[in-house]
Amino acid sequence: MRNAKFITIEGGDGSGKSTLLGRIESFLKDRGIDFLKTREPGGTRVAEEIRDLLLRPRPTGETVSPLTELLLYEAARASHVEQVIRPALARGTFVLCDRFTHSSLAYQGAGRGLGVALVEQLNNAATQGLQPDIVIWIKVPPAVARTRVAGRSGGVKDRLESEKDAFHDLVFEEFNAISLRESQRFIVLDGEKSPDEVFAQLLAHPLWKAQVA
Ligand code: TYD
Repeated sequence: MRNAKFITIEGGDGSGKSTLLGRIESFLKDRGIDFLKTREPGGTRVAEEIRDLLLRPRPTGETVSPLTELLLYEAARASHVEQVIRPALARGTFVLCDRFTHSSLAYQGAGRGLGVALVEQLNNAATQGLQPDIVIWIKVPPAVARTRVAGRSGGVKDRLESEKDAFHDLVFEEFNAISLRESQRFIVLDGEKSPDEVFAQLLAHPLWKAQVA
């Protein structure tokens, strides 16, 4: 049995994450690699309920404090790691997860200003030390992402998406910093390129070739 890999994908609204995820799924299927696709917040019933609490737009004037928000993400994560991710990896199934701990570092640690140290501590508690083998980050400068999202018709923004530009700028800068700090596990893709080129960059990346195919 091949050593199952834990792969997470990070990238904001307008980064082309769903398209890339679809391509990765087809790629793994074509190669007969057994995998599970999941997402955060979510992946278990409890975590999906917490997701709804977190993302549903709230009535004007009603706020969720940054610490409450962080703890809810971490609570969802603990359930997801324990009940879904670890068991899958243990039986040799690859796990492809849409967002994971690095989102908490960027959104709650930097965006909400809670600080990296606290988020790292809680990430570690929630995951019991489990870290992804590969983190794919689709890098799109916030101004470009904004233009893309603005060009879409319809659609309601969730609570996080509705945050101000300055918040998303902080999130982007933090992802950039983490990708340099944890370069041993990060695959940074130039999300300004076409979907074909983004996928080609992934397949050509040494980390991908060494760990997946
Ligand atoms: P989702 O609809 O999955 O957004 P996206 O398509 O951008 O991934 O919603 C997840 C939202 O939750 C997204 O705005 C990022 C945010 N988030 C955090 O703030 N912290 C976290 O730890 C995670 C996992 C997500």
